[in-house]
Amino acid sequence: MKEVAKYLIKVDAEFKDGRIVPEIPYEEVMRLVNEPNIVIIKTGIPETTLRSVITTTRAWADSTPLAEGPDTFDNNQHKQRLHIAKIQQAPQLFHDHTFDALLDLDESTRQTLLSVFNPMRQFWNDLTGNNEEYGIRKGQPYFHPQVTHYPLGGSFFGRHWHPLNPQKVGTILALNQYGKDYTSGGTGYVINDHIVETEGYQDMGDIILFRYDLPHWVSPSSFADRFSWDDPAGRWVAILPFYDPWAKPADKDEPQGWKAQIQTAKNTSPEVAV
Ligand SMILES: [Fe+2]
Repeated sequence: MKEVAKYLIKVDAEFKDGRIVPEIPYEEVMRLVNEPNIVIIKTGIPETTLRSVITTTRAWADSTPLAEGPDTFDNNQHKQRLHIAKIQQAPQLFHDHTFDALLDLDESTRQTLLSVFNPMRQFWNDLTGNNEEYGIRKGQPYFHPQVTHYPLGGSFFGRHWHPLNPQKVGTILALNQYGKDYTSGGTGYVINDHIVETEGYQDMGDIILFRYDLPHWVSPSSFADRFSWDDPAGRWVAILPFYDPWAKPADKDEPQGWKAQIQTAKNTSPEVAV
């Protein structure tokens, strides 16, 4: 375990029998996340596994028409996002592939995607004390596995945030390598009014963990490159959101939820030494 920048901590892990096992206990990882810090887990997932997820996602997208209408959260779809989020007013430009019906994919595509999404699911369960499986459950939170492509030449995701629960900890797995496959763009956060940029700190196979209510963004790929939706070059990540899409969305006001919660704890727990 090593602090590589302010609020940015790297933690080694082993990839054993499809399971991500960090060098420190899961509770300790969550303690660091909640402090809060951004924690980078060196998962050790093999490069061939990570790259096959990109190849397989691209092949699947090639044979699947782009989604156009409102998201239904009950299918497998991919969409070119160019949009400003309604409530939070976060602008975005990227290509996402959402596999809410992951288990309905053809055998080969499903197995390849599960080679990273199952370890991610297990890891999130281990961190949060849950035991959740894949599948669509109306009216309840469920997993929304997603492979996101940030094309060269100006893709990004503006500052936004999420409710802390039920996700608790966000997970972003790098499927390719900074400095080789792409040279700009990464996730940024604000902690205690300090900006934490992870660009350049996340290697292929690393999972970034972050407290889900921290304001965050994805810094842009360089405008010096030509932009093309069709060029697979650029940054690829896998994420595993867990939420009820029909529940109340995050508020328009920024939470910095931990700050308010620390304040509340101080106000309501006079026995706690401050
Ligand atoms: Fe987000």
